Amino acid sequence: TVIILDFGSQYTQLIARRVRELGVYCEILPYSAKIEEIAARAPKGLIFSGGPASVYRAESPRPPKGWQELRVPVLGICYGLQVMVEELGGEVEAAPAREYGRARLRVVADDSPLFKGLPREFDVWMSHGDRVRRVPPGGRVTATTDEALNAIEDLSNCLFGVQFHPEVAHTAHGRDLLRNFVIDICQARADWSPAAVIGAQVERIREAVGERGRAICALSGGVDSAVAAALVHQAIGERQTCIFVDTGLLRDGERERVEDWFKNRLRLNLRTVAAGDRFLERLQGVIDPELKRRLIGHLFIEIFEEEARRIGGAEFLVQGTLYPDVIESVSVRGPSAVIKTHHNVGGLPERLNLRLLEPLRELFKDEVRAVGRELGLPEELLGRHPFPGPGLAVRIIGEVTEERVRILRAADRILEEEIRRAGLYDELWQAFAVLLPVSTVGVMGDERTYERVLAVRAVTSVDGMTADWARLPHEVLAEISRRLVAEVRGINRVVYDISSKPPSTIEWE
Ligand code: XMP
Repeated sequence: TVIILDFGSQYTQLIARRVRELGVYCEILPYSAKIEEIAARAPKGLIFSGGPASVYRAESPRPPKGWQELRVPVLGICYGLQVMVEELGGEVEAAPAREYGRARLRVVADDSPLFKGLPREFDVWMSHGDRVRRVPPGGRVTATTDEALNAIEDLSNCLFGVQFHPEVAHTAHGRDLLRNFVIDICQARADWSPAAVIGAQVERIREAVGERGRAICALSGGVDSAVAAALVHQAIGERQTCIFVDTGLLRDGERERVEDWFKNRLRLNLRTVAAGDRFLERLQGVIDPELKRRLIGHLFIEIFEEEARRIGGAEFLVQGTLYPDVIESVSVRGPSAVIKTHHNVGGLPERLNLRLLEPLRELFKDEVRAVGRELGLPEELLGRHPFPGPGLAVRIIGEVTEERVRILRAADRILEEEIRRAGLYDELWQAFAVLLPVSTVGVMGDERTYERVLAVRAVTSVDGMTADWARLPHEVLAEISRRLVAEVRGINRVVYDISSKPPSTIEWE
């Protein structure tokens, strides 16, 4: 294990992903973690992340007392380097000019193990306003840029620091540097693989559930719940029952697809609940997006609860919680505002007196896909675009009615077909249609029409946190628009959403 201490950098998760890509298990802990908590994990090394603070300010975040006594190699990145320098008796000051973006790095210590095998000059990515003024006793400079010293090390204590960000893609040789640290210097074992994860989780699930215990799982059709269910299936087979709630707000053919994947191919114990009417009824007259989300969330829980009681006898609830949801995010600037209430089954375990099984709690999304692949889940399922829990309801602006769901579902199918036909599906984070509560005048076959406007949204993104609107080829947009108006009754105009996130969000509600 390698422990990453988070000082609030936007790149902390990226560091963890890079380390995992090397096949080494790592965990992120907040900088305020107790030293015993760190020691209990017997780490082979520590990484101090970057962060927005300045070390010379009062109350700047510091690593827990006693970190040096752990006697393991430490790599400080950006703020992590600066905080290390301060702790070791060096000095950090505000730089005359902030350094952002690309810089040319020159390695000046030929025998530095951190830079072993790397070119003596390469481009690195910087983002900082402070710099090291005095190297702590025992330390030496190992690399510089035009502006200042950029990397230092204290070999006798196995301490390393870099001012640039080796974890970002723009830094050439960043991966090699991290490999030098994690594999050569820390000597961490590279035994983290999908097969190893499955083996360990299956064992853990069996141990938790015992010989006779039973579990239930809410399948959504998305990647996370699918992989979680498949893992639990591997461990306890028929003793897991999966519940799939057809909210009536799903994509065209979704119910059949889910039944085919999970019941026919993966042989999971699957129960489908048809609840479209109940959702439509509950949504009558509702326009406010947050109210919509809450009502759908509550009804989903009600239905799941009914079904769980009907099945009876389960003590465990399977959930596809991922690592990014678990990491206690370090906030140096106060709590963030609620933008959208996300759909989840929070609160269920207490009400049903269920214990949680979360076999994906330690995984990033790309690792979940790799585990799913190893478990034999269909590629079509693993590669699908995200779909919001509240479904098509948050893509129908205004009141949700049966007719509007019909229109949007037909439009969504055509859009996906055309995106796939153009070979763009895998390049996009999401592509979907939004039905607007606006009618406009059109002309079709010499007749005046007065019908709805449909918005098309396609975005690229790495993690859904930020996104850019996709520059779809005009011919593709033309064909999408042509087919939508020709084939979906009720639409006579198509517009393309050209907003990025931020300031917009991906979904419209
Ligand atoms: P926004 O609209 O917040 O969406 O920019 C970011 C990503 O999250 C998806 N999304 C949801 N996913 N339950 C989910 O599981 C939800 O309630 C939900 N709402 C939005 C959205 O599709 C996008 O990928």
